[in-house]
Amino acid sequence: MRAVFVCYSGTGNTRRVCEALMGELAARGHEAELVPLIRGEALPPLTAERIVFAFPVHAFRAPAPVLAAIGALPPSAGRTVFFVRTSGEPLALNHAAVLAPRRILQKKGYRVAGDLHYVMPYNIIFRHTDGMAARMWETVVRRLPADAAAIEAGSGRLPRVGLFGRAAALAVRIEQPAMPLIGRGFSVSEDCVGCGACAARCPERNIRMGGGKPVFGGHCTGCMACAFFCPRDAVRTGILNGWRVNGAYDLTAPPAEDKEVCRYCRKSYLRYFHSYE
Ligand SMILES: Cc1cc2nc3c(=O)[nH]c(=O)nc-3n(C[C@H](O)[C@H](O)[C@H](O)COP(=O)(O)O)c2cc1C
Repeated sequence: MRAVFVCYSGTGNTRRVCEALMGELAARGHEAELVPLIRGEALPPLTAERIVFAFPVHAFRAPAPVLAAIGALPPSAGRTVFFVRTSGEPLALNHAAVLAPRRILQKKGYRVAGDLHYVMPYNIIFRHTDGMAARMWETVVRRLPADAAAIEAGSGRLPRVGLFGRAAALAVRIEQPAMPLIGRGFSVSEDCVGCGACAARCPERNIRMGGGKPVFGGHCTGCMACAFFCPRDAVRTGILNGWRVNGAYDLTAPPAEDKEVCRYCRKSYLRYFHSYE
């Protein structure tokens, strides 16, 4: 079997999960290819037996570039699609993120066979401890055999999205049209050394270097890669600056024990971790 993972990832969480799943599929004798979704780079024809659309949840929805890529697909007579989704919280509200991509795909004749939702560390709002991040990663690794088997079999589960989830996704719908405007307000502090890491990491190719400093353009999706990967924590994210998270997590840290799980949404995180143990 051949699987292609079309992956939109700002700060690397979603990509990391995809690579782990691809490794598991390869170990089972399958071919798996990763196609990063980058602005301006056309997708190859998606002829594999399994197409996986992978993305982070942004404001309870799939990011705009993912919806655009799905919208541009040719019709299909029943090709099998999975979603791989990452989010900072294990809340069911995040399931609303499958609604729009599923609707578009089904209209085009694709068979949406499953949704694999992984909790990964937050890249906005607040920083998880490395222990929490490591516990999340431990859970991903534990899930790999069953999740790869679902992709292999072409049969998985789709979440039920309640009224509350639909309403929440509707309420924050403004995020997608607002982000290009908010992104125009991104800047750098005097700590910027002009290394260009922000420009290199931006999946939207929205940052160019001018006069040795980044210049932020008008099609930001708020993925936060620029702020996250800046080696000097010099990126200022406009009105979202108070939510800035900088620097990679250490997923090899000792995983948080139950008593160390963060207070925020503690019950939901514990339920998520325990359900795979
Ligand atoms: C603009 C934005 C909105 C987000 N919205 C949500 C959300 O609604 N729910 C959630 O649990 N996490 C949310 N997150 C957290 C990300 O989904 C999470 O950290 C994800 O794993 C990041 O994946 P990436 O590293 O592949 O970009 C948001 C992150 C960003 C940048």
